[in-house]
Amino acid sequence: MRRGDQVFGYVDICPHAGSPLANPVGRFLTREGDLILCAAHGALFRIDDGVATSGPCAGQRLERWDVGLVDGQVVTA
Ligand code: FES
Repeated sequence: MRRGDQVFGYVDICPHAGSPLANPVGRFLTREGDLILCAAHGALFRIDDGVATSGPCAGQRLERWDVGLVDGQVVTA
């Protein structure tokens, strides 16, 4: 995810049951775009630190994926 000059990367595996996070059309965020939504059972995660704020894995977090910005482009390690 990118917010201006901030980027956040996570492995696409939910800590609850190991499912991919995206829904069938590839959407990762809530309709409001403020949280990451696991399509399997509805867990919600903060974008900035990957911690689940609700759902069956509340308090657990997504595994980080190293990302950064180089010349305005998102890059992975
Ligand atoms: S697999 Fe994500 S909430 Fe269950």
